Amino acid sequence: MEKRQQLYAGKAKSVFATDDPDHVILQFRDDTSAFDGERMESLARKGRVNNRFNAFIMGKLQAAGIATHFSGLLSDTECLVKKLEMIPVECVVRNIAAGGLVRRLGVEEGQALVPPTFELFLKNDAMHDPMINESLAETFGWATPEQLAEMKALTFRVNDVLKRLFADGGLLLVDYKLEFGVFEGKILLGDEFSPDGCRLWDAATREKMDKDRFRQGLGGVIEAYEEVGRRIGADLG
Ligand code: C5P
Repeated sequence: MEKRQQLYAGKAKSVFATDDPDHVILQFRDDTSAFDGERMESLARKGRVNNRFNAFIMGKLQAAGIATHFSGLLSDTECLVKKLEMIPVECVVRNIAAGGLVRRLGVEEGQALVPPTFELFLKNDAMHDPMINESLAETFGWATPEQLAEMKALTFRVNDVLKRLFADGGLLLVDYKLEFGVFEGKILLGDEFSPDGCRLWDAATREKMDKDRFRQGLGGVIEAYEEVGRRIGADLG
C-alpha cells in the first residue's frame, strides 16, 4: 500500500490517498481540539493512543458483526480504511445525561437515561454542529429515511457491544458520537471510536476518563485514555 497525497486535514486526523482508489490512510495526530476548534493543543502520545484504541474497538465491533470502514493498522499513528462517501450527520446515543443534553434541557448530570436516547446533528463546524431531525435530514438530502433507520439501528448495536466491554473494565459508557458512510451501496461505520468522541466515567467514582478532561482543563488527559485502554485490554503500545 503506497501512501500518496494528503486529501484532507481534520482537527485531529489527516486523510491520505493511497494507490488503491477504494482505500485511504487515516493518520492520528497529537492535536486535540475542543469547542469546534476554538481550543487547540498538542498532547504527547495522543495520536498513537487513539489510533491503537480505535483499532481495538473496531476489532470488537467487527467481531460482533458490525461492518466498519476499518481495514487494519499500518503504524503506531496510521490505519487503513475503506474510502466512504460520508453522510454529514452525527449520531449520538446517550446512556447517562451529560454535556450537551444537560446544557440544552437543564436535566441533572449523571441521571440514567432509560431507554437510551438517540440524537442527530449536522456535521458543520461553522454552524456548531446544530441538532437536526430525520425530517430535516430527508428534506435537505443529508440522508435518506432508509439510511437514517440503518444508522440508528447500527448506533444502538454499537451501544450493546461497547456498554458491556466498558462495564467489564469498571467503566460507564455515558454517551458517544458515530458517523457513517456509504461503500458500494452499503452503510458502514466510518468514524474512529476513541475517548475523544465518547464519554467514559469510572463506574465506582464517576471520575471522567475521556475528552472532557481536556474540555474542562482537568489535566491527565492521555493518562486517563491509557488507563481506559489498560482496563479493557487494549494494547496501546
Ligand atoms: O456535546 P454532546 O454532549 O452533545 O456530545 C455527545 C457525545 O458526542 C460526547 O461523547 C462527545 O464527545 C461526542 N461528540 C463528538 N463530536 C462532536 C459532538 C459530540 O465526538 N462534534
